[in-house]
Amino acid sequence: MQFFIDTANLDEIREAADLGMVDGVTTNPSLVAKEGCPLEDRIREICQIVDGPVNAEVVSLDAEGMVTEGRRLAQIAPNVVVKVPMTPEGLKATRRLAGEGIRVNVTLVFSPLQGLLAAKAGAAYASPFVGRLDDISQDGMDLIRDLALIYENYAYDTEIIVASVRHPVHVLEAARIGADIATIPFKVIRQLASHPLTDRGLEKFLADWEKVPKK
Ligand code: E4P
Repeated sequence: MQFFIDTANLDEIREAADLGMVDGVTTNPSLVAKEGCPLEDRIREICQIVDGPVNAEVVSLDAEGMVTEGRRLAQIAPNVVVKVPMTPEGLKATRRLAGEGIRVNVTLVFSPLQGLLAAKAGAAYASPFVGRLDDISQDGMDLIRDLALIYENYAYDTEIIVASVRHPVHVLEAARIGADIATIPFKVIRQLASHPLTDRGLEKFLADWEKVPKK
């Protein structure tokens, strides 16, 4: 299973990369806005840290604008993946960008049929948002199960990026289902590594070590 980090913050990316937990990065306009820097500059900086896919999102609403933006973003570095929204115009842009050899991540996927359309349009990745579905009392993980089944039925190469991850159980469920990728906020990556019994066990080991005679 691959872990992407869902952030545009360089310190978080470096820290998670040191842990060996960064196979790629996802950003979105909200995450970039939090950093207060131009998108292209930030994507370039991220690509200097991470070799894996670095996702940068377009903001145009029409296919023509998305394609123009996508081409420009893809020129930043060979590992840039262009995120386009799951709309009819986004599907047109996906088809065109994929035809030019640019990898596309169709984002804001909230139904299995939207995910099927993304695969048919030639998306390299589809991003179903589990947390936002949970927020409206729908089980986000049901969407991951359905999409995994549909992609398997038709042997689509499109990889599922479990997005809008809010807590470790989302990651656990994604792994149980066999999702290709989870894109995880830094806070949740840290939560994955910790367990109170690990902390307590280490404390006890160190306390006992104090009793061992030293030469
Ligand atoms: C990733 O590609 C998405 O933009 C991100 O996971 C959205 O997460 P949120 O619903 O917590 O904003």
